[in-house]
Amino acid sequence: MAFSSYYLTLICSLLLSISSCIGQTAFQPKALLLPVTKDSSTLQYTTQIGQRTPLVPIKLTIHLGGQTLWVDCEDGYVSSTYRPARCGSVQCTLAKVNTCGDCNTTPRIGCSNNACYNTPENPFIKTLYDGGEITEDVLSIQSTDGSNPGKFVKIPSFIFTCVPTFLTEGLASGVKGTVGLGRNGIALPSQLAQVFSFPRKFALCLSSSTKSSGVIFFGDGPYMMLPNIDISKNLIFIPLIINPFGTGSVPFLNESSSEYFIGVKSIRLNGKPVPINKKLLSIDKRGNGGTKISTGSPYSILETSIYDAVTKALVQELSNVTRVTAVAPFETCFSSKNIASAKVGQAVPAIDLMLQSKQVYWRIFGSNSMVEVSQDVICLGFVNGGIKPTTSIVIGGHQLEDNLLQFDLPRSTLGFSSSLLFRQTTCANFNFTSKA
Ligand SMILES: *[C@@H]1O[C@H](CO)[C@@H](O)[C@H](O)[C@H]1NC(C)=O
Ligand SMILES: *[C@@H]1O[C@H](CO)[C@@H](O)[C@H](O)[C@H]1NC(C)=O
Ligand SMILES: *[C@@H]1O[C@H](CO)[C@@H](O)[C@H](O)[C@H]1NC(C)=O
Repeated sequence: MAFSSYYLTLICSLLLSISSCIGQTAFQPKALLLPVTKDSSTLQYTTQIGQRTPLVPIKLTIHLGGQTLWVDCEDGYVSSTYRPARCGSVQCTLAKVNTCGDCNTTPRIGCSNNACYNTPENPFIKTLYDGGEITEDVLSIQSTDGSNPGKFVKIPSFIFTCVPTFLTEGLASGVKGTVGLGRNGIALPSQLAQVFSFPRKFALCLSSSTKSSGVIFFGDGPYMMLPNIDISKNLIFIPLIINPFGTGSVPFLNESSSEYFIGVKSIRLNGKPVPINKKLLSIDKRGNGGTKISTGSPYSILETSIYDAVTKALVQELSNVTRVTAVAPFETCFSSKNIASAKVGQAVPAIDLMLQSKQVYWRIFGSNSMVEVSQDVICLGFVNGGIKPTTSIVIGGHQLEDNLLQFDLPRSTLGFSSSLLFRQTTCANFNFTSKA
């Protein structure tokens, strides 16, 4: 478990002459990182992480609000350090398990006796599985000084969830599971912060390109992007809101959601208010409504009446631009022939998500609001979420790209950079060359 490896690290630091305590040296990283690649066919954001003994690289899809790192243990899981958590153990408590019991067939990896289970989610096929076995194994991840990658560090007992192969359906090619970055105790940010005693913060910077990687930093800044710009120095902070119900992860449990919600109060387009039903923007007694940030969808999803209002406003503002046949999954497309391009994408009216006050808003420029579907067609890169979706606004991948978002869990705040294109950089500009 996380605590034991922390103490082992401490003991290792005390016995400096002993260079390897179960493979971990006294090196204490201040921050860690994961490179993030955008998969061209699914548009999922994927990463690679070392796991097991001997270490193997595992490809995983990023699930921002996910509760756990879950991985397929049914197909090809081989490790001498795999250890299922026993019923009643601290690991089970930390994982807030739902059930405890025995394997109902022949025990094997991922199906142990006297084991505890949680409910991992695959957001891409909207599936929850209630028999995810809580397990520990070695995890390896690269450290960083904020400018370049550094040494790899090993966590001897990282808590994760073992699932059967079927839960990987809908994930990008070669992907074996998802890595949850949710706000709960066993998600990656909290476990890493606990093991290495750094602040429980992380920053997500997704690249818009499928050719060059973005990055996730765990721990505090600096978060440097070439040419030598520290993005952590220039963020706007807003409160993160806790949804008291497990919306999007485990809705039937009486437990607050591991996902990240923000308080959007209204929407403006080209500086003008878009008329929407404000009730949809708050979270009701059952956890419905509100706005969450999610990598579980490539594009933002708006409840129908919000979608219609935003579209109507955009069409009005672009009245001199030819509207063309829609290209799925989008409904609102334009000829791009008469639209100029600017530093931050197509020169279209900005969409503002108004936050706690008139002065604080998340401005979405052309590069994040529009999608170029062909050489002469651009579409509003939001999809229609239908009536009565659980969450009214889901801010998805395309709207997050080339924006750095820092999640501070103890303070429950989100720091956001707005489009990095204004600062002559992008999320693909982290220097992935290791320092010698
Ligand atoms: C849900 O949890 C809260 C706080 O833990 C408790 O006050 C409430 O009674 C619980 N509700 C149900 C339906 O169990
Ligand atoms: C369309 O109108 C907008 C706003 O009035 C203007 O900025 C833009 O240049 C116009 N585009 C064309 C092609 O006339
Ligand atoms: C990237 O980092 C390496 C190692 O510190 C350095 O040698 C190189 O000059 C950096 N690249 C750029 C473009 O600054």
